[in-house]
Amino acid sequence: MIDISVGQYRYSAYLEAVITEVLQAIRHCRRCVVLTGAGISAESGVPTFRGDDGLWNKFRPEELATVDAFMANSKLVWEWYNWRRDVMDTVQPNAGHYALRDFAEYFENFTLITQNVDGLHTRAGSENVLELHGNINRNKCLDCNREYIESDEIKPDKIPSCTYCGGKIRPDVVWFGEMLDPQVIQKAISESEKADLFFSIGTSALVHPAASLPSGAKRTGAILIEVNPEITPLSHLADFRLQSTAGGVLPQIVRGLQESA
Ligand code: OAD
Repeated sequence: MIDISVGQYRYSAYLEAVITEVLQAIRHCRRCVVLTGAGISAESGVPTFRGDDGLWNKFRPEELATVDAFMANSKLVWEWYNWRRDVMDTVQPNAGHYALRDFAEYFENFTLITQNVDGLHTRAGSENVLELHGNINRNKCLDCNREYIESDEIKPDKIPSCTYCGGKIRPDVVWFGEMLDPQVIQKAISESEKADLFFSIGTSALVHPAASLPSGAKRTGAILIEVNPEITPLSHLADFRLQSTAGGVLPQIVRGLQESA
């Protein structure tokens, strides 16, 4: 017990020291881009995808998150997405989401890019979020891609048809093998390349093209900071690694920004 608490004390002193260095290094930055992944919503109770408790450890993505899966068994796919919507309906944004809302006011230009489909950044008050993988609360047509705006819950036994072309209605999320919305990814790339500061937060940095944004920003001169309790393929590139949870560390950075403003 004593050893563990001594270890934690040393670790938290180390983290404090890195936060101090980060605040010093970023004090002149003007253009900040943040990329988030499932880890930022973990503290709200939304399951991540990878790791022991991750969704892809319990479910098979090829049966639930591809166009082929939807064509083969759209009832099963809708049951799964309705379950995920139910989970997301019960959760609230956490301290990490609120800290990122507050980040925006400390930079001349601030862009928040997320791989998450849960809408929690917007619910926390962040504006103009670039949702690379869509939004689980929207529906669209499988064939013509138009948004389907009826508010009724989708019944897996009776999936509605598109009012324009009669195609099957599906959740407006990006599935494996699908292209991202070209406008959204283009904006994400161009803001990343112009950034002088880039935060990669709560992502395993394994799924491209999102995972290429931090290295692109670093190549064009940004300071790269990673917030993640685990090591990722990005870690060796990061100028600073905050090996902690988003909800733990981001409010501390906002406090530091406030004090130096
Ligand atoms: P992953 O589940 O792959 O990774 C989540 C990351 O968050 C891991 O690296 C964890 O260590 C980290 N993490 C966990 N708790 C955290 C916390 N409290 N604070 C900070 N970090 C924490 O999720 P993503 O990287 O977002 O795509 O996954 C990328 C994409 O793969 C998803 O958007 C989804 C998935 O398949 C599609 O569905 C297209």
